[in-house]
Amino acid sequence: MSTTRFLTGITPSGTPHLGNYAGMMRPAIEASRNKNVENFYFLADYHALIKCQDPERVQRSTIEIAASWLAAGLDPEHVTFYRQSDIPEIPELTWFLTCVTGKGILNRAHAYKASVDKNNAAGTEPDDGVTAGLFMYPVLMGADILVFNANKVPVGRDQVQHLEMARDMASSFNHIYGGEYFALPEAVVEESVATLPGLDGRKMSKSYNNTIPLFATREQLKKLINGITTDSRAPGEPKEVEGSALFQIYQAFASAEETEALRQQYAAGIAWSDAKQALFERIDREIAPMRERYEYLMAHPAELEEILQAGGIKARKLATPLLQQLRSAVGIRNLAQTNKAKAKTAKAALPQFKQYREADGQFYFKLVAADGQLLLQSQGFTAPKEAGQSIAQLQREGAAALEAIKPRLQSLDGISDAQVAQALEQLREASEQ
Ligand code: TRP
Repeated sequence: MSTTRFLTGITPSGTPHLGNYAGMMRPAIEASRNKNVENFYFLADYHALIKCQDPERVQRSTIEIAASWLAAGLDPEHVTFYRQSDIPEIPELTWFLTCVTGKGILNRAHAYKASVDKNNAAGTEPDDGVTAGLFMYPVLMGADILVFNANKVPVGRDQVQHLEMARDMASSFNHIYGGEYFALPEAVVEESVATLPGLDGRKMSKSYNNTIPLFATREQLKKLINGITTDSRAPGEPKEVEGSALFQIYQAFASAEETEALRQQYAAGIAWSDAKQALFERIDREIAPMRERYEYLMAHPAELEEILQAGGIKARKLATPLLQQLRSAVGIRNLAQTNKAKAKTAKAALPQFKQYREADGQFYFKLVAADGQLLLQSQGFTAPKEAGQSIAQLQREGAAALEAIKPRLQSLDGISDAQVAQALEQLREASEQ
């Protein structure tokens, strides 16, 4: 059985903060220790160019994010940790996918639509200030995922639509070029992870300018925590945990017992300054050991470069052969090899069964003649196994199985039973040889 492949991209366009850490990095690193899955983590630096056109900042953020993940415990021996721009197969696949993606689908992408809506509301041209990069964002993301045939992609809610698009691209390509080139990836949306409030109580986010950097120095961390908004209750007055940003951040770092103890101290009227001190100490206890490694890596970017390059080599062992296959599938081939290839693949002149999944979630099979003519088309099955069993029966029994399978088939215009029977017999003979 093949292992499940998880893949996650991180756009290097800022400095990681405690919200990124608690909401995404920490759970992802924990999950990556599971031995039964393969993990791909990458820095989506091509994506960063869509939002950020400051080269120094792109480089700086790439360094910071790589150092943060490694310092937080990501093990590059166990996961494939790489940089998007080190995989030339990704932009190449982006183009192949671009050519099988309807423009109308991209028109409906949330991020693009939001920009258009904003322009419409402001009375400006709909595409004002929209780059083609923003428009193409979902295709680049589709290529990130499909180039490694990832099965599961942990993402936030806002990215679910991108996964639907990636599935569309995968099935269009499979369908147009008649093969199972791509697995259909699925979004994994972790509902239970913490979204951390920031200094002002709103969600911690770069765009609100209310973040606490993950690797602030001890002094900065202390100062920032002292700046968290609280109410004006005096020491000795009981305090509410609901709506207390301080309490919620504490909870994201503390054990259940520690959280309960702080809850009681709130009720007993802990002074805000003492609560802040408790929060500072609790966070620092978790971060301090990583901070040392972070500072080391930040001071040795050549080591980061080496780790990422090694990850890129590992990743390309999969991407390069896949792209070779895809290039051939679309007809980009060595011109001298056509005839030889044809002779060698005389077998390919046989009709073929194809099994696939549609957007409705059901599993289908079809029989396609060597010239591409559709000979059989199944109805939807709820399980892939059922489709597989019907194919197996047709392969085993040939035309004799047709009557039994018929109720599971859609009727096709212009295809005679004799034609189908002949194709099935041809297949059966080939398999007996
Ligand atoms: N779009 C993702 C984000 O902004 C980052 C990303 C790029 C990504 N490529 C990806 C995530 C592929 C998962 C898979 O968060």
